[in-house]
Amino acid sequence: MKYSNVTFIGLGQMGAALVPPFIGAGLQVTVWNRSAAKAEPLVALGATAAADFADAIKASELIIVCLADYATSNALFHRDEITPLLKGKTVVQFTTGDGKEAEAGAQWAAEIGVNYMDGAIMDYPTKVGGPECMLLVSGHEAVWRSCAQEMKLLGGRMTYVGEKPASANLLDGSLLTMYYGNTFALMQSAAMLQAEQIDIKDFSTALAAFKPVIESTWKRTIEAIDRQNYSGNEASIHVHSLGVQSLLKRAKNAGVEHGLLRLFSDYVDKTAASGHEADELPSVYEVFRP
Ligand SMILES: NC(=O)c1ccc[n+]([C@@H]2O[C@H](COP(=O)([O-])OP(=O)(O)OC[C@H]3O[C@@H](n4cnc5c(N)ncnc54)[C@H](OP(=O)(O)O)[C@@H]3O)[C@@H](O)[C@H]2O)c1
Repeated sequence: MKYSNVTFIGLGQMGAALVPPFIGAGLQVTVWNRSAAKAEPLVALGATAAADFADAIKASELIIVCLADYATSNALFHRDEITPLLKGKTVVQFTTGDGKEAEAGAQWAAEIGVNYMDGAIMDYPTKVGGPECMLLVSGHEAVWRSCAQEMKLLGGRMTYVGEKPASANLLDGSLLTMYYGNTFALMQSAAMLQAEQIDIKDFSTALAAFKPVIESTWKRTIEAIDRQNYSGNEASIHVHSLGVQSLLKRAKNAGVEHGLLRLFSDYVDKTAASGHEADELPSVYEVFRP
């Protein structure tokens, strides 16, 4: 490993979880958090609590940031008394944000002579450091190569996604859109089943068996969007419209919240109205596209 010391800025639920793998790997670890008490459990594991933010920056060549948002991070880092302390160091930004914030971060780093990577953590704190934990990072490949071994301490599925600083944040946003969409749909389904006295455990078993159908639908949808051809012989938008209408009616009759199904129905109707009635489900993409 290139780095023997590392500083962590931000010890919230996620920030604190990033620290133990580095202590375990024998690096000299410095931590800083606005509320100093959050450093105590990490000090007990072997970390050093910096007296203040400037001391935390001075302590290490590698600095890992995980704060509430970029505005918080920028307010701490973009100060005249701090920027000279950062010159030549490597900063990896794991605060969640959008692509523009990551690009602005990379621009700021280039102006003050900092090696910069932007990242996203695609799992919960308890999974950090484990073989399944997925993280994304993007930025200059030379910077990635210089700290790849250290970054891989955070999870077995730490992935470099390219030179564009925005890539990690943009992929993070799209994966989270999938995450929320699917999880909200699961809760809609569970509410309907509960209203109809079907055991949620039966749903769990059926869902496990249905997973390959969902995954092959995602694969076919990505392929269709990529080639912009939605024709096929499986099921037309007209047939899907009847299916979605039936779900909406069922949810209404069951007396459960049905705003999500109303949205599905609106999207399918708009797709049909725009001339895709005979096309396949991926043609709904035409409603979303820029
Ligand atoms: N938790 C997760 O499962 C998860 C998963 C993936 C990504 N993330 C991302 O990780 C980042 C941190 O999340 P978290 O779960 O650790 O959140 P959190 O527990 O709410 O911690 C927020 C952190 O930001 C600090 N902070 C907030 N306002 C501040 C200010 N004005 N000045 C200085 N520090 C300030 C907090 O300091 P104090 O302790 O002093 O309040 C704390 O260190 C977020 O961008 C989040 O999206 C979280």
